[in-house]
Amino acid sequence: MILVTGGAGFIGSNFVLDWLATRDEPVLNLDKLTYAGNLENLQGLEGDGRHVFVQGDIGDTELMDHLLASHRPRAVLNFAAESHVDRSIRGPEAFFQTNVQGTLRLLQSVREYWSRLEGPQRQGFRFLQVSTDEVYGSLAPDEPAFSELHRIEPNSPYSASKAASDHLVRAWHHTYGLPVLTTHCSNNYGPFHFPEKLIPLMIVNALGGKPLPLYGDGRQVRDWLYVKDHCSAICRVLEAGRVGDTYNIGGWNEKPNVEIVEVICDLLDELRPRSDGVSYRSQIAFVSDRPGHDRRYAIDARKIEKELGWRPAESFETGIRKTVRWYLSNAGWVSRVQSGAYREWMQAQYAAPAAAETLRQ
Ligand code: NAD
Ligand code: TYD
Repeated sequence: MILVTGGAGFIGSNFVLDWLATRDEPVLNLDKLTYAGNLENLQGLEGDGRHVFVQGDIGDTELMDHLLASHRPRAVLNFAAESHVDRSIRGPEAFFQTNVQGTLRLLQSVREYWSRLEGPQRQGFRFLQVSTDEVYGSLAPDEPAFSELHRIEPNSPYSASKAASDHLVRAWHHTYGLPVLTTHCSNNYGPFHFPEKLIPLMIVNALGGKPLPLYGDGRQVRDWLYVKDHCSAICRVLEAGRVGDTYNIGGWNEKPNVEIVEVICDLLDELRPRSDGVSYRSQIAFVSDRPGHDRRYAIDARKIEKELGWRPAESFETGIRKTVRWYLSNAGWVSRVQSGAYREWMQAQYAAPAAAETLRQ
């Protein structure tokens, strides 16, 4: 079996669902169930003996040692993290607890387990670290996209914590020989995306008649990949990636934020028009910028294509349409994740006088 950490979050739950839809190899899913973890994402696996869920922390050494010894996975895939940049700006501590300290402890548990394996089991074992393009920092408009050789230059508390954990993974390979793989993916979108991130937030706010808050001038560029393409890339890296290597994952889909929001508005105008006939675009509101906001991310995905033959299946146009349709069909999921804790966060983030300042409506 494989051990997936953070498998109740956005990408992790998509990964577990996709894995079990195409393979019979069981998944041990370890997740702390923070505000971002949601077992409802995995409802489709109820009663499926191939999925074993355990609530717990990657930094709980006793628990991790026990799980590794009793389930004997052939691979550990580390998705568990605090993942939202804005939250990391308001409260960096949790990011370093999980992303750095948690990963350190997880690596120690995994190393201990792996060091006792023998023969083909030891040979075949892999630790896969799911990381982000944000560790590379920000690109100027005319700079080439991030290759795997780009310097590591994180700018936010989130990306600094991810870069630190990636360094730990690298060092555990270099020093102890742990067979690791690291992936750096661009921004994901798709089903089960928590509505604090740009794309789901805009869909949910639009439908709720609320402002669509674009930070600064809205011209920051992100490189978007449909989540299921990220999952297929991770499978491919796990299967055939060279031990110790890093792989960038992206779909050559650079777009400014304002364009993303306009596309969402246009799709909603088509699929669920407002009763007053006015376009959802009228809800766009430019608000104060995020501190230290990275201007542009872009992934050069040539290595994974050339060496592992991976390419995304979705274009942005097909992926965003599927995503908007998913949110329209899953209003119940949205309202259930909008718990009290989530509402408090939204108030702190968007109702502060500076952030609420509307520069253009
Ligand atoms: P998410 O916030 O939706 O999910 C994170 C999951 O980890 C949650 O289920 C949470 O409960 C769990 N978790 C948090 N702390 C934990 C701990 N200490 N122990 C065990 N579980 C814990 O995040 P996501 O968007 O699904 O991202 C998953 C991974 O992919 C992260 O490592 C992130 O850095 C990386 N990544 C995300 C994106 C993106 O666009 N979302 C892009 C590239 C890479
Ligand atoms: P986000 O989804 O938080 O991902 P990341 O910061 O990890 O790239 O944000 C994507 C982009 O959208 C980023 O440039 C910030 C911007 N953004 C807004 O303009 N308004 C918002 O309300 C949010 C959440 C993000």
